[in-house]
Order: sequence, then structure tokens, then C-alpha cells
Amino acid sequence: MRTDHQREQGATAGGAPGHGVTAVAHPNIALIKYWGKRDERLMIPYVDSLSMTLDIFPTTTTVRLAPGAPADSLTLDGSPAEGEVRRRVVGFLDLLRERSGRSEPAVVDTHNSVPTGAGLASSASGFAALALAGAAAYGLDPDRTALSRLARRGSASASRSIFGGFAVCHAGRGTGAAADLGSYAEPVPVPDFDPALVIAVVDAGAKAVSSRAAMRRTVETSPLYRAWATSGKTDLAEMRVALRRGDLDAVGEIAERNALGMHATMLTARPAVRYLSPATVAVLDGVLRLRSDGVPAYATMDAGPNVKVLCHPADADRVAEAVRGAAPGCSVFTARRGPGARLTGEAER
Ligand code: DP6
Repeated sequence: MRTDHQREQGATAGGAPGHGVTAVAHPNIALIKYWGKRDERLMIPYVDSLSMTLDIFPTTTTVRLAPGAPADSLTLDGSPAEGEVRRRVVGFLDLLRERSGRSEPAVVDTHNSVPTGAGLASSASGFAALALAGAAAYGLDPDRTALSRLARRGSASASRSIFGGFAVCHAGRGTGAAADLGSYAEPVPVPDFDPALVIAVVDAGAKAVSSRAAMRRTVETSPLYRAWATSGKTDLAEMRVALRRGDLDAVGEIAERNALGMHATMLTARPAVRYLSPATVAVLDGVLRLRSDGVPAYATMDAGPNVKVLCHPADADRVAEAVRGAAPGCSVFTARRGPGARLTGEAER
């Protein structure tokens, strides 16, 4: 008999042993940030978020069921996945097994195309690709909403990488199953808005505090957290209007204030979490100089020192040059809006 979850996920009899299913997903950058979980097990965010999926640095993941294997086998860019990464992926595979009513271990092979050591997180593209390939391998057939909800269980930002272009992730309401059901991403259709995002990698090193630990500490100890979460509601409403209008200045201003607010909550956590480095601040100064020179450019930063600068595509080269000047030695990449997660078909048996 199929369980409620199997029905909801559209479980089928697919996923025959021996098949490999491959999926590709791209990273996304939030313009309205998610920071903080109200349920860590179900990975339910406190706040709604809105992002742009990028057209660079996709993750490609193949999942193959391995009946009879003693355990899951995971490789990441050709090396065995270990530690926290392994724990999170195995936890996600356990969820797929629970939902599909199957028990086979899996062989998971993941390749990130982001340059090694670029300091850009790949958990969004990683769990979006794993959710899509893994669901298919275990014979689940979720619709895009259920897939986004599922990807959220791996990494909340992964829920948004299921979709191309702009996507909003709902934090949902209530607790338990109701919260799980209400928290998923959906596309925000803005066909005519196609800005550039210039990514300045000022430090490629691993972060001192994981985003998971940092957001927990922020929620528990920052006196500013609630104020930021509340003002984020206005930010999101205004962002939707700005996107519909294709108004880069408004989109950029809202994104920049929302990101700086998020970092303010971290700086006021106890003890403080400070991801921004002197090079980050130098790039932020460079962005201000661009604006005073009449170039619309707006910054956003995630759980690390790197800066993403939103601008018109025609200004991207000038922005990249300004960023290089502000933080000599940094690596610079330019992205545009990219596609949602997709299956590439089944691998050779
Ligand atoms: C600052 O999605 O990486 O990039 O849900 O614990 O996996 P987990 O965290 P993650 O956090 C991303 C936070 C952010 C903002 C954002 O992408 O919305």
C-alpha cells in the first residue's frame, strides 16, 4: 500500500536497479535573503526569500541504486564525500527511501563546475540536482512544487534552484507536516528583466563558521534578528513590484539593504559572526564609487566575504574592472539568469 507521502510525491514503480539518473542544477543568489530556520529537522526557514538562478557553475549529479551494497557510496568531484557532506547526503537519501518505501543504498556521483576553491557555496545547486536525480532513481515522480519542497530538506536555498530565473521560497506557517507542506519555492515570472551579476571572489577559503551554525546563533542571540525578519516582509513586497517593473535601481537598492541587514544580525549575534572582510568592504566602496559615477551597481553578500554585484549587462565589464581595482587579486565571474534543474536522461547501464 502506498503511504501518504508516496501518494503526494507520486511514487511510481520506476528506479530499477542498475539505472543511473543524471540531473543538472545551477546555483542561485538570493536578492531577499533566507537566514534562520524555525525547524532545523524539516529545514523550514523563518523568512521568505527570493533569488535569481544563475547560468554558470552547474552541478551535475548521477544517482544509481545499488541493491546489495553495504552502504551508500558518494563521490564529490571524484573523491569520496566525507564528514558533514556525507552525513547530509545520506540523510537526504534516507528521506527518499522513506518516501519511496524502498531500501536500496545508492551510488551518488556529483560534479561541481564551480572552480575549485572559488569559495562559492554549491549546496543549492547540489541538493537541487540530488533531489531531482534521487527522486527519479527511487521511482518518485514529484511535481515541481513537491520537488522544491524535497530539495529544501537538503538545503533550504536548494528549493529555489529547482526553478530558473527568479524564484520565491515561502517560509510557510504552522508546525510539523503543515509547515513542511507550506514551505517551497515557485517561479516569479519576470520575462523581461535580465540583469548581470558580477561575482567578486575575494577569498576562496573555507568559512570559519558554517552558515548552519551561524544562522542558529543569530536567531538565538541577535537582538536585531526579529527586526530584520519583519523588515524583510516589506523588502519582499517591494522587490516583487521592482522586478515586475524591471527597475534595476529599485531591485538593487532593496537587495543591498536586505543583505546588509542580514549581516547586521550576524554582527550582533553573541558571539558575533563576521563574514565580511577588509576586501569585502573595499569592493563595497568600489560599488559606491560606481554609483556616484552614474553606473547603477548594487551589492549583495551571503555567508562569506565574496560580493555579488547586480548591474545592467552593458555595464558588466566596467563593474568587473572596478571590482578588480578595489580588491586586487580577486577572481571575477559574470553571470546572467539561468535555467531550472533538469534531468539529462539515464546514464549507460
Ligand atoms: C546567506 O541554504 O546554505 O546564502 O539551509 O542550512 O543548507 P542550509 O543553508 P543555506 O543558506 C543560505 C543562506 C544565504 C542566503 C540565501 O541563499 O537565501
